[in-house]
Amino acid sequence: MNRFDHRKYRPFEPISKPDRRWPDKRITQAPRWASVDLRDGNQALSRPMNVEQKLEFFDLLIAIGCKEIEVGFPAASQPDFDFVRRIIEEQRIPEDVSIQVLTQAREDLIARTFEALRGVNKAIVHVYNSTNPVQREQVFRLDRAGVMDIARRGARWVKKYAEQFPATEWTFEYSPESFSQTEPDFALDVCNAVNAIWQPREGQSVIINLPATVESSTPNVFADQVEWFCDNLPDREYVCISVHTHNDRGSAVAASELAILAGADRVEGTLFGNGERTGNMDIITLAMNLYSQGIDPRLDFSDPQRILSCYRRCTGMPVHPRHPWVGKWVYTAFSGSHQDAIRKGMRHYRSQPENGWQVPYLPIDPADIGRRYEEVVRINSQSGKGGVAHVLERDYGIDAPAWLARELSRIVQAESEASGEEVPSQRIYANFQAHFCVMPESWRLAGYAISRIGQRVEVRFQLEGDDKDSSWQGYGRGLVEALVDAITRRKRQHLKIEYFDQQALTRGTDAQALAIVRTQLNGAHATAAAFSNDTASATIQCVLSAAGRLMASDNDEGMEGDVPRRANIG
Ligand code: KIV
Ligand code: ZN
Repeated sequence: MNRFDHRKYRPFEPISKPDRRWPDKRITQAPRWASVDLRDGNQALSRPMNVEQKLEFFDLLIAIGCKEIEVGFPAASQPDFDFVRRIIEEQRIPEDVSIQVLTQAREDLIARTFEALRGVNKAIVHVYNSTNPVQREQVFRLDRAGVMDIARRGARWVKKYAEQFPATEWTFEYSPESFSQTEPDFALDVCNAVNAIWQPREGQSVIINLPATVESSTPNVFADQVEWFCDNLPDREYVCISVHTHNDRGSAVAASELAILAGADRVEGTLFGNGERTGNMDIITLAMNLYSQGIDPRLDFSDPQRILSCYRRCTGMPVHPRHPWVGKWVYTAFSGSHQDAIRKGMRHYRSQPENGWQVPYLPIDPADIGRRYEEVVRINSQSGKGGVAHVLERDYGIDAPAWLARELSRIVQAESEASGEEVPSQRIYANFQAHFCVMPESWRLAGYAISRIGQRVEVRFQLEGDDKDSSWQGYGRGLVEALVDAITRRKRQHLKIEYFDQQALTRGTDAQALAIVRTQLNGAHATAAAFSNDTASATIQCVLSAAGRLMASDNDEGMEGDVPRRANIG
């Protein structure tokens, strides 16, 4: 028998909601955020956080801007109890932050929960019980009425104990655990029964939290469930509807987003989605999804590096390098076509920032979250000319024309293929220098003079080692043509210029000008580049270097008769 047998499973039965409205809605503002890192997240760790780690994490959540933070399950865990006492006694809870604590619907646990909260200014007491048929039948062996009683009793005890601490501003939260696997009418009845005790209409602050405790459907089905619930809940306007999604099918964020469209006011989740099994809804991802749509997430993720290191230190959990928005690799392009598009898009953005960020392959500007542009384009054997050009421009101020970038990228690619490694920026530049900038022996410019008469340019120059009285001379419509003419006269060989480019440099090297040329002679090609403090000498030297690569230095055909011999040209 095949052990991998899908027939063991039944499809999830969606509710029928043909009048759904959520697909036509848009998210226009951030929901109320509730972090459950210190409870649901912590509960899922093989080594739960100690009090010191929880304190550090708590401070981080406050720094990010979380205003509702579930800090533990104090009745179930002594460290959680101690932690709650500590943040209250040490007055570590800012005035605008509500701590939240979880408890089961049992009187002894609820009493101890309130004991943990003694002296707090405001707090959310979160009581839950399972409502879905599988738990009712298999775990509690109770019918609907029995489960409803658990919820009612829990609500009464919460109310009763809260009344003993009138100085505290209480919010009551109820979760029908496994809401998404509960019959919608029953989940609604249970929540109504709880609300009948808590009386949100009379001013009691109430959160009804709808958990997808185990994610078991596509997010649209969850959205239908949430919308149906909101449509049918009496006193809906007095109740805050919260959702709490888990990631068993990998759609916790999507489920929360669609639930917001369907009417949820609040979402519970954790940083990086830490939590039971495949985790809770990742607050960072949802917040950054909003941010990337121009919506203020009302949480500050400008320094994910700080968040990452605190998270790793406290939870011991790794973060995948491809984690949405904040993973190490998520703004890095190795592929040539992506690099090319990014380079062009970044240029376009710099020229028109008022039109907003629209750079291919980069859904946000990595600089917003402290990422350096250096990380964006990295070169390996998959990379192409666009990436090489990007690195030359970014790090050395060189605007490499496509033909040069193509040649250099072949060299870099071969190096990467041979080593199997990434090629860092410095190696790319070193290759550029080694392959294009080396001046061939006896082709080094010593001095030059240029004059223009009408449309005609005359150039005269000498090479290092040239006889004092000899100089090269040529004429043309421009400097490059005049140089070719000078070389032809001297060498009796006609160099063809295929491409030429010169540019002013503002950074990257001490030189102020760069000239680059690709030449051809008798079917052979040479590319050369030269840096200099002036454009003319960069141009002359690069043409000479290219010529020098293609012509043997000793096949000098002799001096052109009419060239005046002059020392100290230029
Ligand atoms: O996932 C869940 O259902 C929970 C509840 C306690 C809210 O964590
Ligand atoms: Zn949970």
